[in-house]
Amino acid sequence: MQKLIIEGGVTLDGDVDISGAKNAVLPLLAATLLAETPMTIRNVPRLKDVSTLAAVIEGMGVTVETDEHHNIHTNTATIQHFVAPYDLVRTMRASILVLGPMVARYGEAEVSLPGGCAIGSRPVNIHLTGLEAMGARIVVEEGYIRATAKRLKGAKIVMDIVTVTGTENLLMAAVLAEGTTVLENAAREPEVVDLANCLIAMGAKIKGAGTDKITVEGVTSLQGVDYSVLPDRIETGTFLAAAAITGGRVRTLKAAPDTLDAVLHKFTEAGALVTTGADWIEVDMRDRTLKAVDIRTDPYPAFPTDMQAQFMAMNAVSRGIGVIVETIFENRMMHVAELMRLGANIRLEGNTAIVAGMPYLKGAPVMATDLRASASLVLAGLAAQGKTTVDRIYHTDRGYERIEEKLSRLGARIQRVNG
Ligand code: EPU
Repeated sequence: MQKLIIEGGVTLDGDVDISGAKNAVLPLLAATLLAETPMTIRNVPRLKDVSTLAAVIEGMGVTVETDEHHNIHTNTATIQHFVAPYDLVRTMRASILVLGPMVARYGEAEVSLPGGCAIGSRPVNIHLTGLEAMGARIVVEEGYIRATAKRLKGAKIVMDIVTVTGTENLLMAAVLAEGTTVLENAAREPEVVDLANCLIAMGAKIKGAGTDKITVEGVTSLQGVDYSVLPDRIETGTFLAAAAITGGRVRTLKAAPDTLDAVLHKFTEAGALVTTGADWIEVDMRDRTLKAVDIRTDPYPAFPTDMQAQFMAMNAVSRGIGVIVETIFENRMMHVAELMRLGANIRLEGNTAIVAGMPYLKGAPVMATDLRASASLVLAGLAAQGKTTVDRIYHTDRGYERIEEKLSRLGARIQRVNG
């Protein structure tokens, strides 16, 4: 199993290119199932989760070609069956994203029901009731969701909880349904907007993406397009956090500043100098004091749960006390115990972490428990004195492309080792 070894205490300084957004490319890959002609997705990050979803659609017979320029080319003409098997779905829950497009276009889909997950139980009930409201017949048997429909029908769907992939799944189903679908209490995340923009380019009629009410007029077919994925706001935030936690300066290039308002606001509150251009963001922490901040995660445009663990690491070495409340997932605090191994002073009460900043952390072996937890441990390791070894970095590789190479170029002493 691979690990990252970090010699902490180096002040980072430099520019880093941001990759395409993992959580945008996954629904876009699922959306290629809707295209009757070949399709190209550009700016695709090289990540484990992306290759898993590519394997899901390739396994159905879709032609999927990945080139050396971060592009994926797909052609659904060769599709043979409509099954997303347990072996793949169990490694990535977002595979559920193929359900909506398959039942909408092919009238049938069989997707393994995702099981539990490290960060929460993460049910998919809203995906299923939404599809049922559009007329799909759904049974769950032998661990599989089996959905069939002649042609889906437009419906008014009020989602109980704001769900990102739920909104995306129902959006992809609605674009080929007969009549009008209204999705209320829809997720407003930039990745939902990116998907809607791609679907519109393919010929879909969608209004209101980016608000909590999305209206879709169904069409009878969609065509393949050439579409470039939006920049990854969480990767961006993570590299900016690396500047803040090491007292350095990092400029993220090829980024999308307007997708990070809540996060940038918190960097400013933490004492950083934040500057932005059209497609770059810089956090400068040189000669400044890092201050603890209070965080409450909520759906976009509020502070993202996917940046919670990284700000926890920052708070751990800041001045003052910061209270972090996680409201999206019931078990997304597993990094707390690992950060404490590095000397962090954190009291956990349910899903609230009270973090008292320490003058310094000390390197130790730690274990990643999920993707963003792994990012927080890498950040803490960069700030800690001495050597930190982060184990189970397959979690990191799900969402960060070559993190050690990008950090090395900013001056970090970090290397990937086997065993
Ligand atoms: N929920 C339900 N029923 C449903 C769907 C969701 O109860 O049918 C609950 C979940 O259990 C959770 C809450 O609703 O408590 C919100 O979950 P959501 O469905 O929005 O999460 P998701 O779509 O499964 C995406 C991202 C996550 C990110 C969350 C929240 C993708 C592929 N994944 O997950 O990304 O944390 O939205 O913003 O888009 C990550 O990148 O590290 C990651 C976990």
